[in-house]
Amino acid sequence: MPTIRMPAGPPAPPAPPHTMSTPTYRIAPSILSADFARLGEEVRRVTEAGADWIHFDVMDNHYVPNLTVGPLVCEAIRPHVTAPIDVHLMVRPVDRIIPDFAKAGANIITFHPEASDHIDRSLALIRDHGCQAGLVFNPATPLHHLDHVMDRLDVILLMSVNPGFGGQSFIPETLNKLRAVRARIDAYTARTGRQILLEVDGGVKVDNIAEIAAAGADTFVAGSAVFSKPDADGGYRGILGQLRDALATAGR
Ligand code: DX5
Ligand code: ZN
Repeated sequence: MPTIRMPAGPPAPPAPPHTMSTPTYRIAPSILSADFARLGEEVRRVTEAGADWIHFDVMDNHYVPNLTVGPLVCEAIRPHVTAPIDVHLMVRPVDRIIPDFAKAGANIITFHPEASDHIDRSLALIRDHGCQAGLVFNPATPLHHLDHVMDRLDVILLMSVNPGFGGQSFIPETLNKLRAVRARIDAYTARTGRQILLEVDGGVKVDNIAEIAAAGADTFVAGSAVFSKPDADGGYRGILGQLRDALATAGR
């Protein structure tokens, strides 16, 4: 699995054991459904419960019809977690803001191909700033954007809802698309020895995560599924345990 490189910036505390090795599956709670008034505490609690990444949704009310958070908020949560911060850019354009997120402590930065006029250049820019790079595909975005950039990718993210909002239902056609991307990645890995993660985002729940994993995903964004189910003490061990138990039945 690819190694997560920390960007330059304020030194982070050492990684906890669960981020030292790469597990088969990664769960990436999306802060979009967290309590923004207590964001530091929320990300601490969810990583204490075993979340592998923090998924950070950036929306600009232009590329998507919603407005969320930027580099300042990424910088604010950075000291609260050692887990990688997975910045999902739903903004257009992307190049000007990429270095800001790298400086703010992002580890992974993904963007939508429709949001960059020069996809290869934007991917290179992300790596030049010490982060891992990924492309995000909306439900109706064709996969041909992968054709000439596989060497530049650390992550491929398939949207299983149309981007802009949490709490939507998983679009079943995503399962076919996951199988198609899994085949591309496996062929690429067999040829080059290099791995690329396959992430899915939108409508992931306890009752469908095993099927999504069986279709080929290895990294799972879950927003409302996680943050709507706090334990009695405000933590998230219960729901993350349920997601992991369901993944254990996936058989991949
Ligand atoms: C949607 C965002 C997702 C969102 C997922 O545009 O990219 O990350 O938070 O939320 P759920 O898991 O509730 O579908
Ligand atoms: Zn997202």
